Amino acid sequence: MYINTYLILIFLCNYVYSETFLQILKKYNYPAEEHVIETSDGYILKAQRIPHGADGTQPREVVLLGHGMGGSGENFILLGPPDGLAYYLSDRGFDVWFFNARGSLHSRKHKSLSPDRNRKQFWNFSWHEIATIDLVDTVNYILRVTGKDGLFYVGHSQGTTILMVMLAEHPEMNQKVKAATLLAPSAYLQHTSSPILSLGSKLRRLGESITSMLNMYELPMSNGLILNRFLKTLCNRSSMKDICMDAVYLLGGANSGLVNKTLLPMLIEFIPSSISTKQAWHYGQVIASGEFKQYDYGKKMNQKKYNSPTPPMYNMSNIEVPIGLFYGDSDPFSTPKMIDEFVKVLPNIELVYKAPEENFNHLDYILAYNAKEIINDVLLDKVFKKYMDDNTVD
Ligand SMILES: *[C@@H]1O[C@H](CO)[C@@H](O)[C@H](O)[C@H]1NC(C)=O
Ligand SMILES: *[C@@H]1O[C@H](CO)[C@@H](O)[C@H](O)[C@H]1NC(C)=O
Ligand SMILES: *[C@@H]1O[C@H](CO)[C@@H](O)[C@H](O)[C@H]1NC(C)=O
Repeated sequence: MYINTYLILIFLCNYVYSETFLQILKKYNYPAEEHVIETSDGYILKAQRIPHGADGTQPREVVLLGHGMGGSGENFILLGPPDGLAYYLSDRGFDVWFFNARGSLHSRKHKSLSPDRNRKQFWNFSWHEIATIDLVDTVNYILRVTGKDGLFYVGHSQGTTILMVMLAEHPEMNQKVKAATLLAPSAYLQHTSSPILSLGSKLRRLGESITSMLNMYELPMSNGLILNRFLKTLCNRSSMKDICMDAVYLLGGANSGLVNKTLLPMLIEFIPSSISTKQAWHYGQVIASGEFKQYDYGKKMNQKKYNSPTPPMYNMSNIEVPIGLFYGDSDPFSTPKMIDEFVKVLPNIELVYKAPEENFNHLDYILAYNAKEIINDVLLDKVFKKYMDDNTVD
């Protein structure tokens, strides 16, 4: 009885939420579509789209936006028009698509597995599968629908990890991505500046045993919706606004003061969305081992799965797409040392760019009030323009 009420509640909330994404776009007079993509292993993903400009102009290029861990497609519209990245790119002639990873807010669905009743099977994935299955299938779907032979990509955080993994594991996908901007490129996370992350990753083996003993395959449990409701009520009190804003930043670095407090209700509405525990532990493995490679199942299982006692590395030399690397000085997930590692291994770097603001943190790339000047203009002019078919306009 309790469980059923609970499931119905989750269902209703999901329904309301997914309406909200399109409603927000429509409220601002942008055309909005929602596409359903079934992956080769049966996950059912949604991809939202702003197919053409608000003024009706037909797009010249296609761009796909890849959200971070715990996020979803909405992350790129929270800032609102005209400066939120999705609106910004739509206004400049892009057909804008939003990726939604398996398990996240709009993609918590599978053709035969239930995320609630078949938890062990449904949540049995990491960002490796998000990259090599979801992202591959989404890119192919978009190119089929639009009739284009290549698209641009902007990833934030985990959205950058999956692009790199996709290109390293499926080199043929390099032909389908014209250029990519990586906001907070996340791979060499052993160089994180966050003591909490370093400590957590050292306890990975123990943590993994505990979470699997407790049957915790999804984080936060129950799609975060109950948590969201609670936070919403709490943070709506004006006396709590500053504290809530700091809490939003707890993991993302210092509060830079670049995010307008009026965004708070929306932030709480959409963050966090679910992830699998395996996704978090895979990052923990990267931090602890200092190696960017596939999931470590332990010697015996590795031998069976990979034909080697250790998991294979991601071969960064396979990445041919021109790449812009964006980082900030207070982002624990993208430190100068990590950027140095990328510069050593990525064959085709178009731009390395540090956001000019002090205390620039992990969320500012997409939420800062001045994102247009310090992020959007830079990625368009310095990374994408050169690779656009018609780069003479605007
Ligand atoms: C989870 O995935 C791994 C690797 O693909 C597989 O070996 C294992 O059997 C899966 N476990 C379940 C419970 O589906
Ligand atoms: C914050 O947002 C409000 C409402 O959208 C707006 O009036 C105000 O100018 C914004 N402040 C900054 C610094 O952008
Ligand atoms: C990595 O890829 C490069 C270029 O595609 C190739 O020459 C090299 O042998 C690969 N390295 C490994 C370890 O597979």
